[in-house]
Amino acid sequence: MAPQQWESKIHFGPASGDNGPFPHLAEDVRRGLTRIPKELPPKYFYDARGSALFEQICELPEYYLTRTERALLTQIAGEVVASCRPVTLVEFGSGSCRKTRILLDAMARRGLLDCYVPIDLNEDVLRQTAQALSEDYPGLRVQGVIGDFEQPVEILPTGGPRLVTFLGSTIGNLTHDGAIGFLRNVARLLAPEDRFLVGTDLVKDVRVLERAYNDAAGVTAAFNRNILSVINKHLDGRFEPNRFEHLAFYNKEDSRIEMHLVARQSHQVSIDAIDLTVEFARGESIRTEISCKYTSAMVEAMLAEAGLRLLRWDTDKDRLFALSLSTLLH
Ligand code: SAH
Ligand code: AVI
Repeated sequence: MAPQQWESKIHFGPASGDNGPFPHLAEDVRRGLTRIPKELPPKYFYDARGSALFEQICELPEYYLTRTERALLTQIAGEVVASCRPVTLVEFGSGSCRKTRILLDAMARRGLLDCYVPIDLNEDVLRQTAQALSEDYPGLRVQGVIGDFEQPVEILPTGGPRLVTFLGSTIGNLTHDGAIGFLRNVARLLAPEDRFLVGTDLVKDVRVLERAYNDAAGVTAAFNRNILSVINKHLDGRFEPNRFEHLAFYNKEDSRIEMHLVARQSHQVSIDAIDLTVEFARGESIRTEISCKYTSAMVEAMLAEAGLRLLRWDTDKDRLFALSLSTLLH
């Protein structure tokens, strides 16, 4: 499909401000770096470099999440599609859409595939993948939505039934309240014949979890530090990323991996565009990400709290990762 045609099908989410792809970066950075303990929202990892680093993480031997979810999807895609017969696939946090193709293929094989709606903050990745998919699936309508899935996302009216997905355990990067808010928005968008498929990473041996976020090649560390480069680029920040150490550990009480950047020495950093100077004590950290790990009971309870009913639960033989299919509760 020609780029112009594709352009006409793209729907832009909330207008971008001065910070290009990250309209709320300035206020989020000010709030996060002036509170104690310091934190930054993980959505700011994903500029072009961060997205490329995340793709590398997905291929790492330690990072079992992607390959396990891919195998699970391959196993169940046919049955899921046969049971709900979707003509539209909606995907939150679509990224490179690699695993999405398994579902698109299953829909195409049954002659159902009509429309794909990827939703992501990262406009460049969204455009590239939407273009590639339009070319690879002739006749597919791709309606990209550039937007923040933590806000109520407006989706163009598309045909149903629809299969709505949130893969990769990206839901784990939200707080409990954030996840419930997100799921409520999904429930608001669903019609009774629609289905919602969510990927979640599961509670397991701490060593396996911690290895996945502390890879030997240091790709996760580079991904973590990239959030500082995003601030430097978009807010004239003066961070020196190498003055911060990558730290990732399992917080058992809260059932989550936490990623931090820990100042190697005490120093201060100015962020010129927001007129802010941030003091760091030696050993002080910025929490950059939470990545929640779930049990089946936790997933079912979250879905129910948001008005969704679990229809099927699939996990691999080692119970590393799960896919949950749900529908409206009432
Ligand atoms: N679903 C893919 C990508 C996961 S990486 C997979 O399973 O491999 C997380 C993706 O979500 C990235 O593409 C990132 O740009 C996007 N993202 C992160 N926070 C977001 C937010 N708040 N709103 C919209 N997209 C977001
Ligand atoms: C996108 N998200 C689910 C990944 C995760 O595992 O929480 C991001 C990531 N962070 C470090 N490695 C990968």
